[in-house]
Amino acid sequence: MYGRFAEAYARHSEDSPANAYYDRSAVLELAGDVAGKRVLELGSAAGALTEQLVYRGAHVLGLDREPEMVRLARLRLGQRARFEVADLAEPLTTVPTGSIDLVVASLVLHYLADWAPVLAELHRCLVPGGALVLSVHHPAADWQWAGRPVYLDTTLVTETWHLGDQPVEVSFYRRPLSQIFRLLRQAGFTIEQLEEPRPLPALEAANPKAYKTLSSEPVFLLVRAVAAR
Ligand SMILES: C[S@@+](CC[C@H](N)C(=O)[O-])C[C@H]1O[C@@H](n2cnc3c(N)ncnc32)[C@H](O)[C@@H]1O
Repeated sequence: MYGRFAEAYARHSEDSPANAYYDRSAVLELAGDVAGKRVLELGSAAGALTEQLVYRGAHVLGLDREPEMVRLARLRLGQRARFEVADLAEPLTTVPTGSIDLVVASLVLHYLADWAPVLAELHRCLVPGGALVLSVHHPAADWQWAGRPVYLDTTLVTETWHLGDQPVEVSFYRRPLSQIFRLLRQAGFTIEQLEEPRPLPALEAANPKAYKTLSSEPVFLLVRAVAAR
């Protein structure tokens, strides 16, 4: 999907209100001190979040299903991070057991129909007590704009985004909040923190309309969960 508009997405996400002033800042806040940590980044796209993690001293392995995204990320980060093409729906065969201190999954897990296999893999890859920080579309937001389908079902929905001048169709899974919690618990994670973030104050001057929306509506949901020892 993202392979068709990788460059347009990379340009868009660089400074879009939802990515640059809302998701990335909130994910980094939940990640805490990453200096010296071995970080597995899921859905690393063109490396915008990777760069921030590396800047803070993390050793990052980024995984993305789209070869074009991996190419752009390698171009951006050079030797400062590693990137591999990998589909999160498949076993993460290149990541050794217990080799990761922190998993960061920014805006990617909602592309997976079934979270159980990937969460089991993340639990395997993490050191005992290691953390998973994830962001997804807020279940209330997707339910609202998708025409209020049965909230408790998990449903595939399609949205049209405008990346610059380019309209693109993006499909992802909308799942209820209780399901997100259940799946994490069943995979052996303890939920430590849940956040419905506020945008960075700087957005108010840069884009007052987006600032108002991101300050007053549910848009993304963030969770920090810890792999049980
Ligand atoms: C919204 S972007 C993530 C944004 C990124 N975290 C950032 O900060 O720029 C979603 C990314 O997840 C990737 N993706 C979607 N489904 C995937 C899957 N099954 N396995 C691996 N990557 C996937 C897409 O190719 C895309 O690069």
